Amino acid sequence: MSKTLRLGVAGLGNVGVGLVKLVQGQETLRLTSKLEIVGVSARSRTRDRGIDISGYRWCDDAMSLALADDVDVYVELIGGSEGLAKQTVEAALEAGKHVVTANKALIAEHGCELAKIAEKKGVHLLFEAAVAGGVPVVRAVRDSLSGVRIDRISGILNGTCNYILTEMLDSGSPYEQVVKQAQRLGYAEADPWLDVSGMDAAHKIAILAAIAFGAAPDFSKVRVKGINDITDQDILLSSKLGYRIRLVAEAVQSGGKVRCFTAPTLFATDHPLALVTGPTNAVLIEGDPVGRLTLTGPGAGEGPTASAVMGDIARLNQGPATPPFGVNTSGLDDIFAEPTGEGMVSRWFIRANLADRSGTLAQLSDALAGARVSVDKLIQDSAGETGVAPIAIVTHACSRNTAESVIEKIATLPASVDAPQLIRIEA
Ligand SMILES: NC(=O)c1ccc[n+]([C@@H]2O[C@H](COP(=O)([O-])OP(=O)(O)OC[C@H]3O[C@@H](n4cnc5c(N)ncnc54)[C@H](OP(=O)(O)O)[C@@H]3O)[C@@H](O)[C@H]2O)c1
Repeated sequence: MSKTLRLGVAGLGNVGVGLVKLVQGQETLRLTSKLEIVGVSARSRTRDRGIDISGYRWCDDAMSLALADDVDVYVELIGGSEGLAKQTVEAALEAGKHVVTANKALIAEHGCELAKIAEKKGVHLLFEAAVAGGVPVVRAVRDSLSGVRIDRISGILNGTCNYILTEMLDSGSPYEQVVKQAQRLGYAEADPWLDVSGMDAAHKIAILAAIAFGAAPDFSKVRVKGINDITDQDILLSSKLGYRIRLVAEAVQSGGKVRCFTAPTLFATDHPLALVTGPTNAVLIEGDPVGRLTLTGPGAGEGPTASAVMGDIARLNQGPATPPFGVNTSGLDDIFAEPTGEGMVSRWFIRANLADRSGTLAQLSDALAGARVSVDKLIQDSAGETGVAPIAIVTHACSRNTAESVIEKIATLPASVDAPQLIRIEA
């Protein structure tokens, strides 16, 4: 076994506690170095975390841990793209220490500048846990698939959203009620915004895209849409039409540009992503000459995420540092571009709530014809006593811009009672 690796662990929340447990039980793991935690840092020294940390030096200030002479590896598990997480990671790298982090926001927004420091100092900057928790997708794409020309990466990268969407279908309950249930079960934070807004999945796809396409990550170019306006009607009507709604995160390379987005998307019920239920994550990698690969598993949680952090730590003594994004930062192309509406041709799901009176369908039909959108399927639910009939349409293929223009027209129809919904259908 090679020399002992001395760890400074900043952040003792879900992931930090999981990591401490794994280090304390390291005899059962396949490691080439002995691991020793020399210091820990968190906000509250007195909080009962269910683990014994009395043998570790307590640091009120994570910066002192990042810079400590007896720390070889700074493990950042605090979170957030700015502030202490960024400052301490920068400082640790500048001080010539390896850094392991689970922080997707930090890597997606500042990964390139941090990778430059790591390269300059010849140290590792590893972040397997930042994407899909316990699913080893970062290393698979960066190392194992470096001989594959990747065309597209897509997947379910946020377990909270996937739980909410599948539970809305299974229980028939509305969005707000299912979010509260997700919070009670520990699948959603007290403030679920980062998850349901799509931001968390967007951070992850930006990281994967950078690695898969040799691109400098540019989070400002990622188009982010979440699930916060998905209604129980969308779930029910799309299901009646033979689809499941999933929050997909996708990165595609074409014409020398990389375009990343997150968006609710409809999948036919036999599509691999439609079959992913609950808080599970799944990543589809499409490329030549492997075709399509699917990786699936637990995308979050104490144990799975800590195991990914541990996998990175286990690698540190196995050879010289390699570029964090697979190629040196000088070789990363500045090719992230904003997704364009015209380029995205697909079939679309449209749901509108329209007043149940004569002439309504004629208004809808005029709106569709005016935008030159033709209908593949249309279903209408009974208005019952509400006087409002939910109508769902599957269109034939048209561009996003065209689909958006028809939605604008439907919103202004005299019969329209609220904002219509537009969701892309995966081919
Ligand atoms: N949870 C998951 O399943 C998961 C999955 C993948 C990636 N991640 C990433 O892993 C990282 C940690 O996530 P988590 O779920 O473990 O978060 P968490 O449970 O909220 O824990 C955050 C930890 O950071 C500490 N902290 C916050 N501000 C601090 C400060 N100013 N100084 C020192 N310590 C501070 C907190 O201290 P106190 O405990 O004293 O408040 C807490 O121990 C994040 O980047 C997250 O995105 C998490």
